[in-house]
Amino acid sequence: MKNILVTGALGQIGSELVPALRQRYGAGKVIATDLKVLPPSGAAALAPYDHLDCTDPHQLHEAVRRHEIDAIYHLAALLSASAEAAPQFAWQVNMTGLYNVLEVARGYGCQVFFPSSIGAFGPSTPRDHTPQVTIQRPTTIYGVTKVAGELLCDYYASRFGIDTRGLRLPGLVSYVAAPGGGTTDYAVEMFYHALRYGRYTCFLSADTRLDMMYMPDAIAGMIHLMAADADRLRYRNAYNITAMSVTPEDIAAAIRQHIPSFDIDYDVDPVRQAIADSWPRSLDDSAAHADWDWAPHYDLSAMTADMLVRLEAKLKTAARKKRV
Ligand code: NAD
Ligand code: SER
Repeated sequence: MKNILVTGALGQIGSELVPALRQRYGAGKVIATDLKVLPPSGAAALAPYDHLDCTDPHQLHEAVRRHEIDAIYHLAALLSASAEAAPQFAWQVNMTGLYNVLEVARGYGCQVFFPSSIGAFGPSTPRDHTPQVTIQRPTTIYGVTKVAGELLCDYYASRFGIDTRGLRLPGLVSYVAAPGGGTTDYAVEMFYHALRYGRYTCFLSADTRLDMMYMPDAIAGMIHLMAADADRLRYRNAYNITAMSVTPEDIAAAIRQHIPSFDIDYDVDPVRQAIADSWPRSLDDSAAHADWDWAPHYDLSAMTADMLVRLEAKLKTAARKKRV
C-alpha cells in the first residue's frame, strides 16, 4: 500500500482529493500538506497534516523521508489570475516547487502527479478540439510555468526514470472549497451568487467559451491516471481532459432550469478576459480515452443539478452554525 503526500492540500482540489485518496488508500496513508499554518484543532481534524512550503527543498525531503512517501500529488501553485498579478513570485512557487518535488522524487523513487492546465496553451494554439500534441506558446506566466512544468516532468521521466503523470485540467467547478485565483473562478462564483442573491455579475463576457469539469470527475481522473498501466501511457505530461465546453451564458441558462429568476450581467475584467481569450475553446481528450479509459460522468446539466443541491445544503448548514 502506498504512502502519499499531497502538496497544496488546502486548496480547491486538495480539499476533495485528500478525502478521496484517504477513502481509497486509508486515512493514515495520505499526508496532507500546505503552506497555510492551521490552528492545532484544524491540523488535528485533518491529520495527518504537515505545514510544508514546497519551495523549501529541506522541508520536502524531510516530509518524504519521515513519512516514507511513495507518491506525491503536487498541487501547490499560483493560479492564472494570481500569477499574472505577481509573475516573479508565481515562477518561484510554480517552478521551484515542482523542481524540488521532482528532485525529492528522484532521491526517493516517488511517483509524481503534476496538474497542468488549459493555460498551457496560447493564442497560436488551435482553439477548437485542441489536439493532445500541438503548439504551446502561452502568453501568461501561469501558462509558461505549466508548459515548463510539463517539459520538466517529461525530462525527469525519460532522463531519470521517474514515474511522472499529469493532466491538462480545465476550469474546475466545486462546492467544498473556494477556487484560488483563477480565470475560470467565475463559474463557481455564479453558483454561490445564484443561491445567495439570485443574480451574478460576471467578469468574463457572455460568449467566452472554455472547457470546464465538475470536481468529482477531476478527482477520479487524477486517481485513475496515477493507477493506470504505465505501459499504456504514451504521454507522461500531460493528458488533455475535458467534460464540457461552455460559456457563462450556457451556465446561467442551466442554473435558470432550477432558479428561473436567476439574472446575470457582465462587467468584463480586461486582464482575466485576455487570459481566457488566449485559451482553447474546447480540448480533444481522445488520447486520455484511448490510453487510460478516461470518461467524465457529469455534463453541464448533471453538474448544475448536483452543484445546486449540495451547495444549498452547505450554505444552510453554515447559516445554522452561525446562528447557534
Ligand atoms: P488553490 O489555489 O485552490 O490551492 C493551492 C494551494 O497551494 C493553497 O492551499 C495554497 O495555500 C498552497 N500553496 C501556495 N504556495 C505554496 C507553497 N509554497 N508551498 C505549499 N503550498 C502552497 O489551487 P487548486 O485549484 O487546488 O489547484 C491545484 C493545482 O491544480 C494547481 O497546480 C493548479 O494550477 C492546477 N489546476 C487547477 C485548476 C482549477 O480550476 N482549480 C485547473 C487547472 C489546473
Ligand atoms: N482554473 C485555472 C485558472 O483559471 C485553469 O488552470 O487559472
